[in-house]
Amino acid sequence: MKTLSSQDYYFSIVAALKQKNVPPGGEAMMEAILAAIPSGARKIVDFGCNTGWISRRVARAFPQAEVIGVDENPAIIEVAREVARLEDSTAVFSRTETVALPDIISEADVIICGGSAAFFDRPLDLYRMVARCLRSGGLLMDCHYVYDADVPPSLRQEEKEMFGLGWMPDGLNDIVSVHEDAGLSVGKIKRLPRFHFEDSAAARVARHILHMVPKMQELAEAMAKRRRLISKLAHHRYPYLLIARTGEQTVAEGVTQRERTEVPMASDAITSNRHVSARGPTVARRSFWREAARAVSLQSAYP
Ligand SMILES: C[S@@+](CC[C@H](N)C(=O)[O-])C[C@H]1O[C@@H](n2cnc3c(N)ncnc32)[C@H](O)[C@@H]1O
Repeated sequence: MKTLSSQDYYFSIVAALKQKNVPPGGEAMMEAILAAIPSGARKIVDFGCNTGWISRRVARAFPQAEVIGVDENPAIIEVAREVARLEDSTAVFSRTETVALPDIISEADVIICGGSAAFFDRPLDLYRMVARCLRSGGLLMDCHYVYDADVPPSLRQEEKEMFGLGWMPDGLNDIVSVHEDAGLSVGKIKRLPRFHFEDSAAARVARHILHMVPKMQELAEAMAKRRRLISKLAHHRYPYLLIARTGEQTVAEGVTQRERTEVPMASDAITSNRHVSARGPTVARRSFWREAARAVSLQSAYP
């Protein structure tokens, strides 16, 4: 029998409460994604779609495109379908094991990973599959949080445990390295403003009600704890959108000259927070400034 991970618990709560999940950066990220999708895109995949917010927004903005949200969590997919029905969205949702995915997402013009890569134990496998499934010239839109060098390690550890993160990349270099190793070349990196999640009145009322229901106090407290952690983390990270495609490295200069960090390959390496914990603060700080400078100077290869 499969043992439930903290990721399973986290997403079960999201599904049970039919929560709206948003990518790193929220609305600003959504706008950046919509602006970067080519107008002629016919097939768009939202990978790790959760309850489908990105899929529905993209389907509304690109009515001519087939928009497919994919997630491994069955309860989440049910909620995504239900909300799409209520909103009359044309987005379709598919629950699938990773091995079945290539058939569903092959020949995609755009694949969006709206913060989902961090939940994969083996990001290299994910990006390799993306590289295989994008049609020639297709784009990957990959959303991440990139942390400041001074983020307290204890906060990141708490985040890893509370949300069940699989991969904790150590900065932009680390993320770009895994893309490259999978045969993708990053052509554009966009840093968005820090994202402070607004706690809605509805969410507060929901927690309050839950707190009053017998046996629900624990769940209400877990939700409140998650919210407090997200607020603390918001001061130490920026949301980033990376746009990549298969084939030739069009912006090879800035990218290949950087010092490469070790890319996690084996599952045991990826599940640990090795890069963050193994590095001294000085090295981490230096790499942060180098990465920030590179991010700002990278020219977009895509119009
Ligand atoms: C943080 S959520 C993504 C948020 C979402 N993009 C949004 O904007 O609402 C990460 C999602 O990735 C999914 N996921 C994790 N591992 C997966 C896998 N191996 N295959 C498919 N989905 C996966 C999780 O179930 C979860 O719904």
